[in-house]
Amino acid sequence: MLSCHEVSKSFGTTQALAELSIQVNKGEIFGLVGPDGAGKTTFMRMVCNLIDADMGTITVGGLPASRYPRERLGYMPQRFSLYGDLTIAENISFFASLYSLDKNITRQRSEEMLRITGLTGFENRLADNLSGGMKQKLALTSALMTRPELMVLDEPTYGVDPESRKEFWQILYRLNESGITILISTPYMDEAELCHRVALINSGKLVACDSPLGLKNLFDRQVVEVRAGIIDPYFFDLCPGVVDSSYYSKRFHLLVEVNEQIFDTLQEYALHKGFADITLNYISPSMEDVFAFLAEPRLPKQPDVV
Ligand SMILES: Nc1ncnc2c1ncn2[C@@H]1O[C@H](COP(=O)(O)OP(=O)(O)OP(=O)(O)O)[C@@H](O)[C@H]1O
Ligand SMILES: [Mg+2]
Repeated sequence: MLSCHEVSKSFGTTQALAELSIQVNKGEIFGLVGPDGAGKTTFMRMVCNLIDADMGTITVGGLPASRYPRERLGYMPQRFSLYGDLTIAENISFFASLYSLDKNITRQRSEEMLRITGLTGFENRLADNLSGGMKQKLALTSALMTRPELMVLDEPTYGVDPESRKEFWQILYRLNESGITILISTPYMDEAELCHRVALINSGKLVACDSPLGLKNLFDRQVVEVRAGIIDPYFFDLCPGVVDSSYYSKRFHLLVEVNEQIFDTLQEYALHKGFADITLNYISPSMEDVFAFLAEPRLPKQPDVV
C-alpha cells in the first residue's frame, strides 16, 4: 500500500529523516513510534504529498505520492483545526465541500461515518463545546468523508483520556476490518502494542520494524520484579548485572542482563546490604522496556580478542 525507500529530508541543518525505508501492507494498522522530533510528522506529510523528500522515493498504492488521488487518502494532522463556532454537522459539511462532495452524498456519508465514530445525536453541538475525545472523533469523521483507502493519523489520541483512547482504537479496528489501511503515530507505548506492525524511529532513522511480539523478541534483557521492604529507590543501582532500575513503592522493576545466576546475585547483594527477605520474579517486558532498550545507542560489537 505504501512504500518508502531510503527517504531523507533536512530542514536547514536539521536532518528530519535519514534514509528511511518503510513498507506498509494493504490492510495493516501500522504504527510509527518515536520520541519528539523523531521525524514522524515529516514522514506523514510526505506520504500525504504536502512536502517533498530531498532524496528517496515514496509510493502510495503503487503511484508516486504526488499522483495518488487525494480523496483516497484521509489525513488527520497532529494539530488540526476545527471551526469552534460551527456545529459537528457544519464542520463535516464544510470539509465535504472542500472535496466537492454533493449534498446528498454528504448527508448519507456523514450519517454513516457519525454512526461509526459514535457521534450520532451530537450533530448540532458546537465544536467548541466538545470534549477532547469527541473533537478527535469529529476530525476522524471529517477525514473519512471521502471514503479513503488509507488513513494517516498523526498522534490522534494525544492528550485524550484513557477511556476515550480505548474507544478511539475500537473505532480504528472497525475501520480496519472494513478494509482501510491505517498509518498511525503515537507517543503511547500501550498503543504500539495494538498495531499489527510498528516502526520505531529515532532521530529520523529506523531503529526497528516488526510486530509488537517480534520487537519483544529482539529484547535480549530480562525484567525482574523485586518485592521487599526496601525504601531506598537507588538500592540496586550498583548491583552487578543490573542495567536499569525503576522503583515503585517498595517494588523494583530491574532490567537485567540475561544470566542464570541473576537471582543469586540479587539475593546476595541484598543480603550484603542487610535485606534477607526479598521476593524475585521474572516479568514480561513492557513495550516501554523494549523501546528504551532498542533505541539506546549501543556500541558496535567488538571482535573477540584471542
Ligand atoms: N518545517 C520545519 N522547519 C524546520 N524544522 C522542522 C520543520 N518540520 C520539522 N522540523 C524538524 O525536523 C525534526 C523532525 O520533526 P517532526 O515534526 O517530523 O518530528 P515528530 O516525530 O513528529 O515529533 P513530535 O512527536 O514532537 O510530533 C525536528 O527536529 C523538527 O524540529
Ligand atoms: Mg509530530
